Amino acid sequence: MIESSDFDFENRFVAPTPIQSDDGDDFEISLRPKTLDEYIGQDKVKENMKVYIEAAKKRGDSLDHVLLYGPPGLGKTTLSTIIAHEMGVNIRTTSGPAIEKPGDLAAILTNLEKGDVLFIDEIHRLSRQVEEILYPALEDYKIDIIMGKGPAARSIPIELNKFTLIGATTRSGQLSAPLRDRFGVIERLELYSPQQLCEIIMRSAVILGVPCDKDGAMELASRSRGTPRIANRFLKRVRDFADIMGDGRITREIAHIALDKLDVDDLGLDRLDRRMLEMIIKGYGGGPVGLETLASAIGEEAVTLEDVCEPYLMQLGFIARTPRGRCATQLAYKHLGILKDGQTML
Ligand code: ADE
Repeated sequence: MIESSDFDFENRFVAPTPIQSDDGDDFEISLRPKTLDEYIGQDKVKENMKVYIEAAKKRGDSLDHVLLYGPPGLGKTTLSTIIAHEMGVNIRTTSGPAIEKPGDLAAILTNLEKGDVLFIDEIHRLSRQVEEILYPALEDYKIDIIMGKGPAARSIPIELNKFTLIGATTRSGQLSAPLRDRFGVIERLELYSPQQLCEIIMRSAVILGVPCDKDGAMELASRSRGTPRIANRFLKRVRDFADIMGDGRITREIAHIALDKLDVDDLGLDRLDRRMLEMIIKGYGGGPVGLETLASAIGEEAVTLEDVCEPYLMQLGFIARTPRGRCATQLAYKHLGILKDGQTML
């Protein structure tokens, strides 16, 4: 039997989405790089964006619409703010679920100044009616506003200032084809390597004034599941352990002790990841098992498993996706110390 638990999965410490202990957004915002040169990693995306930004500036034009996609916590919002900063324009930030009615979007669009960036996070969650308004806005920089109701309704065309839409999504597959086609630039953000995360942690430690050894940063980095948001969160929490258990310096030993106490294992897996792997192995003989079946067996949403657990478990080579469902690999058995016949290794 796999134990049920009262673990707070919503606020799991390795969640790539913001959690309560991130202190609103202030902590993250203070660590955000402001320029492309300060931004660590995502080299291919950075190189491409540099060219597009320079070319648009040279022509005195606005930047083409940009779609950024990839797992949460990798810096899509940060990158969008940097792009606006490098273009020397304002950024207006909103999200798919926040734009409820076509009128909400019309109000935002008509307030944009020439060249401004409109950032829409979770753009795959825009409603169909709102999307319809967006198409002519993106293509011809105009919208039609309907005034009045019934037979007296009139359509009033409104010219917009030329602007750049930056859309961000964790699920590019859920974007409708007509919306996707309207982005001139489509870039995928990848999980970061431990070396890149180590650099990000060392940079953040300097900004926060936390003494941190390279070994200590590397220990945090290798457990941050490729995600800067998690790496920075670890830094903040482990600083508390360093203050109380040591002399305030984050060393490899302090980082190791602190992360063990936070239930994050050597590779950055937490209880939800381990439960997912254990359920595949012990509940379904190693798989294949369908995502929905797995999710209900664990009592978790399928999208959480798919967006949050899977990218990293697949990067580690612990899970394979097959047409018939998810399978645990030999590496997963080994990591959990389980033999193929379900026995636990001694
Ligand atoms: N903080 C969060 N993400 C970052 C990145 N990619 N580079 C530098 N600092 C960061």
